Amino acid sequence: MDVLPSLAVSEIVFVAGARPNFMKIAPILHALHARESEVRDVLVHTGQHYDHGMSDIFFEQLGIKTPDVHLEVGSGPHGAQTGRIMQTFESHLMAATRPAGIVVVGDVNSTMACTLVGVKMGIPVAHVEAGLRSFDRAMPEEINRIVTDSIADLLLVSDPAGLENLSNEGVPSERIRYVGNVMIDSVVARLDEARALHKAKGLGLEDKGYALVTLHRPQNVDEKERLSDLVDFLTALADDLPVVFPIHPRTANKLEAFGLRDKLVNHPHIHASEPLGYVEILSLMDTAKLVISDSGGIQEETTFLRVPCVTLRPSTERPITVSQGTNTIAGMDLGVARTAVSEVLGGSYKAGTAIDGWDGKAAERVVDAILEAWT
Ligand code: UD1
Repeated sequence: MDVLPSLAVSEIVFVAGARPNFMKIAPILHALHARESEVRDVLVHTGQHYDHGMSDIFFEQLGIKTPDVHLEVGSGPHGAQTGRIMQTFESHLMAATRPAGIVVVGDVNSTMACTLVGVKMGIPVAHVEAGLRSFDRAMPEEINRIVTDSIADLLLVSDPAGLENLSNEGVPSERIRYVGNVMIDSVVARLDEARALHKAKGLGLEDKGYALVTLHRPQNVDEKERLSDLVDFLTALADDLPVVFPIHPRTANKLEAFGLRDKLVNHPHIHASEPLGYVEILSLMDTAKLVISDSGGIQEETTFLRVPCVTLRPSTERPITVSQGTNTIAGMDLGVARTAVSEVLGGSYKAGTAIDGWDGKAAERVVDAILEAWT
């Protein structure tokens, strides 16, 4: 009698879709490959981000393998984009070997969409960077975080507040592990290269002689009045301190549409550019006097690098960057941001401390957790 061959190795699917996913998935794949385990990894790129500067450059610089599957979903309104990710990811899973599990990272639409599909197909899902909460449901990422954590099987936590949030939400402790911050693994892995690049010097700027700015959140860039106030804030700052501003495509589109682009880019001390690669932005962050941003990950990276960060948002899902790190949540009030900038320039800004588990080895702990759960 013929016996069907049993599957010799298990497969784990790893999902990445948007820029902030790539520096999180890279160290996890590297750690898994270093194990020489029997597990086969299948990397799925949803295509939520697709420009070279928003996607490919991160694969090149972070040494991420070419995706095994590309869903090519592209941009669109949230419902349409989420729906396309779910539909195409489900089709892929239905046609492929059933994996032992799915690993999702962060809080973008791809994270939530692929979690929903996996869980409904009965495939276990691990969420890396679980438990973060801003308690601001106007943020699309907050909805993604809540949905993902409420249904994923294994919640891998990066910030001590995540443990408290999940416990308050009644998540059983056996579903939760504190693994630390995989984003910091990528910083640790690329910092020497970033320092050797001297990106600021290449722009004619002194170390600690400029501010690095990134802005892309709908709350800051989608309304003309707010974006105009921010352009005024940045041009006034640039009168005192040069500003380096790599511009996200969403922001570039809005600056153009609202007629604000020229005022910004024509300022003699504003170095505006397209989005930059990982090593370039890390180099600029490392030698900046301060960073002004509305990003999630930059709050963590600046805390690790001990560089002051003024976050132009009403809330943070990463509170340890404020309580122990170098971050200030300025809210939407630019007066608070101006005060924080003055403190940095006057030398009285807080210095920050090291955070437990932000040590360059978080991906090892992620791999330990998923191999223990699924093999
Ligand atoms: C997404 C994430 C956000 C993350 C951010 C980092 C969600 C809900 N949001 O927001 O959490 O902080 O990525 O970048 O998942 N565009 C391009 N090229 C690209 C990608 C986007 O031109 O490669 C343009 C398109 O016009 C698009 C717009 O940017 O409509 C916004 O992109 P989208 O992915 O919808 O949201 P982000 O603002 O990037």
